[in-house]
Amino acid sequence: MEKKNLAMRRRVVLVPAPAQGHITPMMQLARALHFKGFAITVAQTKFNYLNPSTDLSDFQFVTIPETLPESEFNNLGPGRFMVKLAKECHVSFKELLGQLLVSEEEEIACVIYDEFMYFVEPAVTEFKLRNVILSTTSASAFVCRFVVCKLYAKDGLAQLKEGSGREEELVPELDPIRYKDLPVSAFASVEYSVELFKNTCYKGTASSVIINTVRCLDMSSLEWLQQELEIPVYPIGPLHMAVTAPPTSLLEENVSCIEWLNIQRSSSVIYISLGSINSMETKEALEMASGLVSSNQNFLWVIRPGSIRGSEMSEEELFSKMITLDRGYIVKWAPQKQVLAHSAVGAFWSHCGWNSTLESLGEGVPMICRPFTADQKGNARYLECVWKVGIQVEGELERGAVERAVKRLMVDDEGIEMKRRALSLKEKLKASVLAAGSSHNSLNDFINTL
Ligand code: UDX
Repeated sequence: MEKKNLAMRRRVVLVPAPAQGHITPMMQLARALHFKGFAITVAQTKFNYLNPSTDLSDFQFVTIPETLPESEFNNLGPGRFMVKLAKECHVSFKELLGQLLVSEEEEIACVIYDEFMYFVEPAVTEFKLRNVILSTTSASAFVCRFVVCKLYAKDGLAQLKEGSGREEELVPELDPIRYKDLPVSAFASVEYSVELFKNTCYKGTASSVIINTVRCLDMSSLEWLQQELEIPVYPIGPLHMAVTAPPTSLLEENVSCIEWLNIQRSSSVIYISLGSINSMETKEALEMASGLVSSNQNFLWVIRPGSIRGSEMSEEELFSKMITLDRGYIVKWAPQKQVLAHSAVGAFWSHCGWNSTLESLGEGVPMICRPFTADQKGNARYLECVWKVGIQVEGELERGAVERAVKRLMVDDEGIEMKRRALSLKEKLKASVLAAGSSHNSLNDFINTL
């Protein structure tokens, strides 16, 4: 390309958080911006580095040098790991950005960083570049993080202390969120969650916040955020529906499950996945398998390596034990978007990560919600109480509860109603990313600011 054209082209630097549920939406945003003519640089940590496939060959990938061993993720858990990673990358990111400013000919239009990669903000400010935050969780999860910080400052979040008996109460002005649904992480102490949230809620010098959400799902939280942050907030999701998604899987997808789905009856399969981080006890997995079999429904179950704890059997042995229960097909990682789009899938048993939630709603698939931690609990609550397209399974997981939840969704009239509402939401989401749709306009408004 001639130098003259290069000078006219502008570059966007994107900094995803190193987790599947954060890398995917950031790369979808990268694709949308590239489509609008921007050159793309993706700055990744060594941890959970996405190997750029040929499909992403138009993007430049650079590494933020950090020295955290992989084992730290398991030792510390995701929350504390992110806090430590931020401390590690604070200086090395600044050096990297300085090098990019010297080596790249195009002007840097802005740096977009994941809300959990807040260490980026001071370096971008120092180089007098434009700072933009990408939130890959819902707007209501963002609001909940603010509320956690405020409640903690007031009385140490006394409502969640053991024996307070207040976990079931609704949080004032956050209806239907109960105290126990607040995104305090099961992976870390409240103190660590608050430290992380304070940083993710701090807008610093950011000029705007982009959120992978949709007005029709998250309106009141978006308005709340707009007031609190006092900078433009752009809901531009669901990103996976707005652009042709680039391949971003950190694990290899087993596509054989699509062939299995091809020979199943329409809406007869329940798809089960607990996301990229959560794990369950062997006892729970076996209760679940048993409940699924008694429900007489077929199931496609993602069992990620390492996602079942406490088993003396190898995962293979455990898989085969479950498969002999018939009715089921088990993979280590599935092409989830393709699975949810398949006509054989009638429901999704999910941990309610925000990407999985959007992907399910985007295909009109109702959900059985079994959240583990963080924003998943609030998402589950919205799915059940606000959008009314999900059933939450709470408390100890035992076979009877599994069977009942599956039948309510796959067999009973209640499930038919939920399916109808899910399909109606799907149409709304589709419309939001088409020309003149709310998310489409919002993305264009953001791009015009660059
Ligand atoms: C994490 C947090 O757990 C979640 O609460 C937060 O909202 C985002 O970050 P994760 O566990 O990765 O999320 O779940 P989710 O947000 O649902 O993202 C998982 C992604 O992996 C989805 O895009 C899904 O399509 C993909 N996936 C999952 C697969 O491609 N194949 C699978 O077999 C399972």
